[in-house]
Amino acid sequence: MDDLTDQQLRDLVTRGAAFAAGARPDPVLAGKVVGTYFSKTSTRTRTAFATAALRLGGQLISYGPHDLQLNTGETIADTGKVLSRMLDLLVIRTSGPEAEMVQLSGDGRVPVVNAMSEREHPTQALTDLTTLQRCFGRVDGLRLLYCGEGNNSAVALALALTRFPGTELTLCTPPGYGLPAEVVAQARTSAAASGASIVQRHDIAQLPEQLDAVYTTRWQTTGTSKADPDWRTAFQPFQVDQQLMDRYPRAVFLHDLPAHRGEEVSAEVLDGPRSIAFDQAENKLHSAMAVLEWCSTGRTGEAEPGRVHPGDSGRLIWW
Ligand code: CP
Repeated sequence: MDDLTDQQLRDLVTRGAAFAAGARPDPVLAGKVVGTYFSKTSTRTRTAFATAALRLGGQLISYGPHDLQLNTGETIADTGKVLSRMLDLLVIRTSGPEAEMVQLSGDGRVPVVNAMSEREHPTQALTDLTTLQRCFGRVDGLRLLYCGEGNNSAVALALALTRFPGTELTLCTPPGYGLPAEVVAQARTSAAASGASIVQRHDIAQLPEQLDAVYTTRWQTTGTSKADPDWRTAFQPFQVDQQLMDRYPRAVFLHDLPAHRGEEVSAEVLDGPRSIAFDQAENKLHSAMAVLEWCSTGRTGEAEPGRVHPGDSGRLIWW
């Protein structure tokens, strides 16, 4: 998120929403080869970036966790020096730090997209904001409750949403599983500059009065494990169930998926009429097209904030 200016962030969200509304992509990747390297499992992000690359006219080489000589001991730096001489763009998911991604790009020789790292899941946040833009016609001023583990999706969401004026983000995370203190501090600085607000609480009884959206995520984040064998006891009160949603009858429900029904969310909520989680999943593709277009051309297409409005998706116009 730190690599994007406020305007670039806003433009990427607007462009993703425009693709979701049916804007036709230009073949900006024609003649280019995009590599995707996912050392961790992925259904949505990997498919979204592969499909986006093909829809933008590019060609694709897809590496899974067992494909590269990294497995036999070749260094990350040497791997990057080779890949960056052949590929035009790289999309990477690892459970390591972002610095590894930079090495894999040949120290910046080709653009690299963080498709999830240990700390951050920035393209998920772009998708989340694109989904809010599609649903409400704006991101500014929205009130969102994030309930559950303070993972890399939450980090990226906090760093992104607080840059939109008037937004109110409440993070309700189990004790010991919140966002890192430096992330909260950075998000507070962004919020102070934009006129947004962010609070992190560890008590599910302390919830906001009014909300536009409730967001949760799987308790066991991809590529991680928890030291405490009894961690579920701490998480159980933070399940998003119908009782919680009933407190906010106008709020929509988001989930970055994959989901475990009966853990972080009840089936009734995830599969219910106010869930936009699967629209959100689809928006990963539209958002990925916006990201690859920007990486390839340095521009975010015909971003026009007024083009997207509630009801474009044919739903969520019921309030
Ligand atoms: N939300 C998300 O990143 O999904 P995948 O792990 O399936 O890519």
